[in-house]
Amino acid sequence: MPEQGLSGVLLSQEEIAEIVTRLGREITECYRDSDKELIVIGLLRGSFIFMADLVREIKCPMVTDFMTISSYGDSTISSGDVKVVMDLDESISDRDVLMVEDIIDTGNTFSKVVRMLENRSPASLRICTLLNKPSRRKVAVNIDFCGLDIPDEFVCGYGLDYAQKYRNVPYVGIYGGPTD
Ligand code: IMP
Ligand code: MG
Repeated sequence: MPEQGLSGVLLSQEEIAEIVTRLGREITECYRDSDKELIVIGLLRGSFIFMADLVREIKCPMVTDFMTISSYGDSTISSGDVKVVMDLDESISDRDVLMVEDIIDTGNTFSKVVRMLENRSPASLRICTLLNKPSRRKVAVNIDFCGLDIPDEFVCGYGLDYAQKYRNVPYVGIYGGPTD
């Protein structure tokens, strides 16, 4: 039974687990032989559950950090304005940086964060997203590790919210309630 307000299940817990395991394998393979330190950066709040599962599937030494970017407010449409609410604690200079995002939609938010972090001289910078909505893209984003391309639906659960709700739902569901 979908949660109240969600009209269907897009990804079950089992399907999510398969995707996360595969991404962990791809990421481990990519960084295994690097002589740089790997720092995995989660963009809050949407990525926190995915990040927690993903890092346990990455089988090489790494550190983690988080960053909070505000983009949408409580709307379902990206404003294009991006603000750093909480910056990283760690320096990324000369480190292998892996950015972890819940979903890439228009690309507005992410492309700006990427540009900002590239200015801090990382040894490399790669992007992992659980979900991708290619049909909505306005700004190009080069995704290195992608969980799943999805159609143009607003989705919630597994960390993703609508107006801060549904993050605790253990699957990814399609939002079926009113939007502003
Ligand atoms: P973008 O700037 O349009 O790419 O938006 C990226 C951010 O918008 C993501 O990190 C999410 O927080 C949010 N977002 C985009 N699509 C969805 C969705 O379907 N459900 C929940 N959040 C979304
Ligand atoms: Mg988000």
